[in-house]
Amino acid sequence: MERSARPTLAVVGATGAVGTVMLQILSQHADIWGEIRLVASPRSAGRKLTVRGEEVEVVALDEAAFEGVDVAMFDVPDEVAAEWAPRAAAHGAVVVDNSAAFRMDPQVPLVVPEVNPHAARIRPRGIVAGPNCTTLSMIVAVGALHAEFGLRELVVSSYQAVSGAGRAGVETLRRQLSLVAGTELGTSPGDVRRAVGDRTGPFPEPVALNVVPWAGSLRDEGWSSEEMKVRDESRKILGLPRLKVTATCVRVPVVTTHSLTVHARFEGEVTVDRTREILATAPGVVLFDDPEAGEFPTPADAVGTDPTWVGRVRRALDDPTALDLFVCGDNLRKGAALNTAQIAELVAAELTGA
Ligand SMILES: NC(=O)c1ccc[n+]([C@@H]2O[C@H](COP(=O)([O-])OP(=O)(O)OC[C@H]3O[C@@H](n4cnc5c(N)ncnc54)[C@H](OP(=O)(O)O)[C@@H]3O)[C@@H](O)[C@H]2O)c1
Repeated sequence: MERSARPTLAVVGATGAVGTVMLQILSQHADIWGEIRLVASPRSAGRKLTVRGEEVEVVALDEAAFEGVDVAMFDVPDEVAAEWAPRAAAHGAVVVDNSAAFRMDPQVPLVVPEVNPHAARIRPRGIVAGPNCTTLSMIVAVGALHAEFGLRELVVSSYQAVSGAGRAGVETLRRQLSLVAGTELGTSPGDVRRAVGDRTGPFPEPVALNVVPWAGSLRDEGWSSEEMKVRDESRKILGLPRLKVTATCVRVPVVTTHSLTVHARFEGEVTVDRTREILATAPGVVLFDDPEAGEFPTPADAVGTDPTWVGRVRRALDDPTALDLFVCGDNLRKGAALNTAQIAELVAAELTGA
């Protein structure tokens, strides 16, 4: 099909952490788009970015940016998406939103193409949402196990990379690392805090040489917004509104790729052999699990790749209906840009009858 006959795509937030990876993915995937329009704040208007090997000038977010657009991806802060996604939809674009603005709206499907692709077709507001990066880093593997065993409960702890907090998160870690590198810090209370000073960026505590048991903002009874997202979004994607979910979200000094420990309890007894078969054949999952050989996923190896990596597969010692896993997923690829691109490709296929 000639480019002029193909759907027009807008990437809103093209200059951000997720947007940057989106441009790489659009350059790597089959080229199904006609024009690709790059949109960001007025601060970035006029900047030139490369997509599909071509330089494209960034335009400022305004009504004109959506003229003739068929699909608009939103990779911008929640409040920007809340205002502009309905405006883009009013222009006739199908919006694929990566922010939290619409995820729990009952009229907006929350889609992970490997788990619930059919949901993307029913979009009364013209908006399809993608889940948060922590949920996305595990839900493809968990969804495959749920389809076979029937999920009853999830208990997860996350080890979240700083890029989950955008460019500001990465800049904060790199700056702090430069201040502590080559020192003897990390041996007495408060020495790291004194070295990095007050500039903790989007994090409440220093993240270099540290782990911080907090992500997002405070919700009721001490839970963080990130922990509530894992619970609410997992329930919605899996279609299990009463699923028991407990999450503890922790920030670690990793640039990109979230990891999670997952304790999943199912309807009946499970076996490790069957679990390994399911994970080895599930689309979007790589089973990398040979403890004897010292093989299990780590963020340093999973970063920059598409799949959800699963290792440390064990049946719970005291519960034959439960499994324990360690999962890694690149929060900027499957955790954000890749999932959005996959949804947009589903929508484009629907629009063009492909
Ligand atoms: N990072 C992750 O792992 C991750 C995962 C899943 C979902 N998300 C979600 O994806 C969205 C983007 O996250 P990010 O990490 O890429 O953030 P980021 O690095 O801070 O980038 C934000 C982007 O939004 C643009 N923007 C900000 N204010 C704007 C405005 N008023 N009008 C137009 N554009 C504006 C910025 O443009 P300028 O460069 O011009 O400022 C930039 O392109 C957020 O909703 C986030 O929650 C992030």
